[in-house]
Amino acid sequence: MRARVSYNREGEIAEICLDNPPVNALGVGLRAGIMEALAQFMADDAARIAVIHAAGRTFVAGADIREFGKPPQAPFLPDLVNHLEALEKPVLCVLHGTTLGGGLELAMGAHYRLGLPGVKLGLPETSLGILPGAGGTQRLPRLAGMEAALEIMTSARQVGAQEALSLGVLDALAEEGLAPLEAGRKMAAQLLAEGAGPRRISEMPAPQIAPEALAEIRTQTARRFRGQIAQLTAIDAAVEGAAMPFEAGMKHERALFERLMESPQRAALIHAFFAERKVAQLPELEGITPRATDRIGVIGGGRMGSGIAVSALLAGLDVTLIERDAEAAAAAREGVAATLAESVKRGKLREEARAEILAQRFRAAADYAALSEADVVIEAVFEDMAIKRAVFEALDRHCKPGAVLATNTSYLDIPGIAAVTTRPADVLGLHFFSPAHVMRLLEIVVPEGTAPEVVATGFALGKKLRKVSVRAGVCDGFIGNRILQVYRAAADHMVLAGASPYEVDRAVTEFGFPMGPYAVQDLAGLDIGFMTRQRKAPHRDPREFVPRWGDVMHARGWHGRKTGQGYYSYGPEHPRGAPSPEVEEIIAAERAERGVQPRSFTPEEIVARYMAAMVNEAARVVGEGIAARPLDVDVTLLHGYGFPRWRGGPMHWADQQGLGEILRQIEGFQSEDAYFWQPAPLLQELVAKGADFARLNAA
Ligand code: 3HC
Ligand code: NAI
Repeated sequence: MRARVSYNREGEIAEICLDNPPVNALGVGLRAGIMEALAQFMADDAARIAVIHAAGRTFVAGADIREFGKPPQAPFLPDLVNHLEALEKPVLCVLHGTTLGGGLELAMGAHYRLGLPGVKLGLPETSLGILPGAGGTQRLPRLAGMEAALEIMTSARQVGAQEALSLGVLDALAEEGLAPLEAGRKMAAQLLAEGAGPRRISEMPAPQIAPEALAEIRTQTARRFRGQIAQLTAIDAAVEGAAMPFEAGMKHERALFERLMESPQRAALIHAFFAERKVAQLPELEGITPRATDRIGVIGGGRMGSGIAVSALLAGLDVTLIERDAEAAAAAREGVAATLAESVKRGKLREEARAEILAQRFRAAADYAALSEADVVIEAVFEDMAIKRAVFEALDRHCKPGAVLATNTSYLDIPGIAAVTTRPADVLGLHFFSPAHVMRLLEIVVPEGTAPEVVATGFALGKKLRKVSVRAGVCDGFIGNRILQVYRAAADHMVLAGASPYEVDRAVTEFGFPMGPYAVQDLAGLDIGFMTRQRKAPHRDPREFVPRWGDVMHARGWHGRKTGQGYYSYGPEHPRGAPSPEVEEIIAAERAERGVQPRSFTPEEIVARYMAAMVNEAARVVGEGIAARPLDVDVTLLHGYGFPRWRGGPMHWADQQGLGEILRQIEGFQSEDAYFWQPAPLLQELVAKGADFARLNAA
């Protein structure tokens, strides 16, 4: 859509309206339009003050990210903001919605800022791998003080209206119920009455920061954003810029901005931003109207069921939870109430809202009859085919026609579950991640016979729950767990060959994952891995290496964190776990039994194998159509498996390394285990064509 900027004058007040749906991003069209409108304002002798406001759901939400990486086009944003600030007549910006990045920078070029109640302000550029590049690093510190500005820029968080007011970023907050223009007219009239003129932030004194405070901020930031460059560079831009005259500070900011713009981290973070929005754009959903998703049924009130219930309740939905008997239903209700209480403690929910949810929108029962009105039912009982089938038979009897029946199974065959109902086209998988009210990933698993409307309903529900929903086809483990099993197996291969689990975890966390595979297994419980091995044993290819040390640990009752011992030993001195010499002994014994001469691995060798295994299996997942596109894999790994966002996801990362290089490595590893290291056909095909995963995303 074309950006529109309109100019209108009422009495002495010029009204400049920005209209560039959906979020008024500052693309070249909008920038040019603002320049023209400002020229009109200056030429209009009757206009004594201008109000800039925006149409739609938000004031400007930032620069137009789609322009990043392309040749910049004039008028450039910093020039526009400087030009605005230099005007000889006062300008007021009225902010609503999410005024972010370039939007806030534009507003800081104006002489006065009025917020609508509920407005959120921020400079989230560092989360995209860049820094505020239109004066934000120079103007925000002058307005809010250096420490507050550094915190806002590095955290990328959205600042609420009251806080923005107390920091001085907003001059005033409008009363409730006014449209941006109405509120702006009122304040402009007041400013005129007071004889207010232009007030330029660039002319305000540069703020200081004590060297000790700055050192502390740098240390904390480096720790929190380990591996990333944008946050520390934003600090440099602000602090070094404040020591220079304003104009020089702006130039310095620009130079650092351009450097970040060229960085692979920026490319990765922008890829992640758009990939998260593209996952829900699927040809099969075009023009399909989803069914209702207001009344949710949940079967099973254990770890997952209660989390799913809380997620739906926090999103404002009505939830009925079914447990095995009245006692279990009462326990599930208490569990849900306790989780909601935690949300109150963390400030995410008001106490009155919690009371309203428990009194009116949530019930736990043991009788399926309570589900007769449910729009969507999500089953989360034990991972056992017979139990799940019995549940689906009951759902088939009790649910209304058109109700969507979903299973949260991790591995079981969904068509096999659907087959026990008289309505398999209404059945799909909704695979949540633990804890379900916190984790944002939702895999929407689509068996062949599922109706498109039912798939669309899954996505509609995901949106209501504020999840990032990814479509997955049916296979063992869907997208995420299937790939996970393979890169974990690569880790086991390395441990057998001589690496310690601790070396693997360290190398993987240095790469950017929050935890390594062995620490994660301790957290999830080693009993889960044991059960998975049991489940797969009957169908296993004899050439597959499966370590026995996990079974030894399981037999000793070492189930990970919950038992105090897993790959790591946990105790008061080591709440996060200490390496365990006994585990190393168990592994050494297995190496000896298998006649393996242990060798050492560098962190680079570990990461190379771990990532090659991940990319190779991901290529299979895409090649088989389990994931619609490589970007769906990236989003799955980013939101469900802790893949470092600033590396964009495994497929984006692989493109950056060069697929030829990854294939060459895999072929090299074949001498270690020819069965495990078989290159994925899609990887071979792309390398032969000189193509990459990005090209498949664009197709
Ligand atoms: N540029 C281009 N497109 C943008 C955009 C931007 N800055 N922000 C959002 N969009 C697009 C989205 O891609 C999406 O497009 P689609 O419908 O085709 O998928 C559409 O706008 C709506 O976005 P959301 O689905 O995300 O809508 P929400 O209502 O959920 O969220 C939002 C709105 C909070 C504004 C969110 O979109 C957001 O966080 N946007 C990015 C904000 C940002 O990072 N701004 C800083 C940009 S960098 C900058 O300003 C540099 C400067 O310092 C020089
Ligand atoms: P859990 O053991 O914590 O909870 C299962 C609950 O189901 C128990 O409260 C039990 O009383 C109830 N239940 C059992 N049979 C029932 C029946 N016939 N009717 C009503 N309720 C019944 O298990 P968890 O971890 O919540 O897992 C549930 C499902 O979610 C499994 O299929 C699992 O594979 C899947 N899953 C688990 C994840 C995890 O991290 N725990 C992640 C994603 C999916």
